[in-house]
Amino acid sequence: MIGIHSVVRGVGSYLPQKVLTNADLAEMVDTSDEWIVQRTGIKERHVAAEGEFTSALGLKAAQAALADAGLVADDIDLIILATSTPDQTFPATAVTIQSELGITRGAAFDLQAVCSGFVFAIATADAHLRTGAFRRALVIGAETFSRILDWNDRGTCVLFGDGAGAIVLEGVPADEAKGRGVLTSHLRSDGRHRSKLFVDGGPSSTGTVGHLRMEGREVFKHAVGMITDVIVDAFAATGESAETIDWFVPHQANRRIIDASAQKLGIAPEKVVTTVQSHGNTSAASIPLALDVARKDGRIKPGDLVLLEAMGGGFTWGSALLRW
Ligand code: ACO
Repeated sequence: MIGIHSVVRGVGSYLPQKVLTNADLAEMVDTSDEWIVQRTGIKERHVAAEGEFTSALGLKAAQAALADAGLVADDIDLIILATSTPDQTFPATAVTIQSELGITRGAAFDLQAVCSGFVFAIATADAHLRTGAFRRALVIGAETFSRILDWNDRGTCVLFGDGAGAIVLEGVPADEAKGRGVLTSHLRSDGRHRSKLFVDGGPSSTGTVGHLRMEGREVFKHAVGMITDVIVDAFAATGESAETIDWFVPHQANRRIIDASAQKLGIAPEKVVTTVQSHGNTSAASIPLALDVARKDGRIKPGDLVLLEAMGGGFTWGSALLRW
């Protein structure tokens, strides 16, 4: 069916209570607040409590997004959960969230594109909504990266945090949407880079969960170019530009990557939403967490043009441009 737009109805997020500061980390590994802030911009991150699973974080974010949208669980017929830290190998953590919400119709599945997961999930939900087969989607990013970190590896354990964010997308006929909704999305991956950021375990290979391993410099080297490429694609597809966007909400991996990408694209610093200082890198959860912060503090308003981007393990990378 032609002429359906996927319009944002609501946004919500959830962060676990426990906060781990750089000072806390300096007591665990040989690092310092100064090193972490200078290289990454991160000051603190949240960590899930024992027994608090990805599904629990995702559920709370989903409930907050439904409340923000003024909807109830039964209004939802599609759940896409972007995560690389599912509760179990299977079933999909999305079906746990579906069940906890009391939804018994439609479909729910997980999507795995590491830090790019939320952008990939928006593009996937948008494609499904535009067919008319589904009406309203919960698009969730939820992670417990604390469970796959090697807490003895100072090169990685200082970078990541736990959390969840969600948006509700609704398929609305174009004449009612009035230009709002997901305008374009651009997804990419290149598996030749898969050994630069990976987890050294899995059900088919080791039978263990494994730990995150990263060649930080290699990731950094590719990040800015890949991010800016897919944003240029989004601008070319829509005729929008660094000047016409209202907000740039990037994946929150590292302050230096965010600043360098914005600078390369000519995006004014005051348009950049940054939460990495207080959330760390929450992988697929970072964009919806940042969207919720910027929506709740009054920065993002209905009608605003919002640019999303992410890059992560695979490598995977992507952009999405939407009018709120
Ligand atoms: N505290 C103190 N020293 C440290 C720490 C730490 N936490 N970690 C590493 N070091 C040391 C290293 O051992 C090294 O010491 P040496 O010179 O004596 O050997 C020195 O600091 C420099 O190490 P590098 O790894 O070269 O440091 P770099 O300047 O590249 O910064 C960082 C490391 C922050 C990881 C950087 O490479 C980076 O930001 N990369 C991108 C990583 C990223 O964003 N990943 C996630 C994106 S994808 C996704 O979101 C899943």
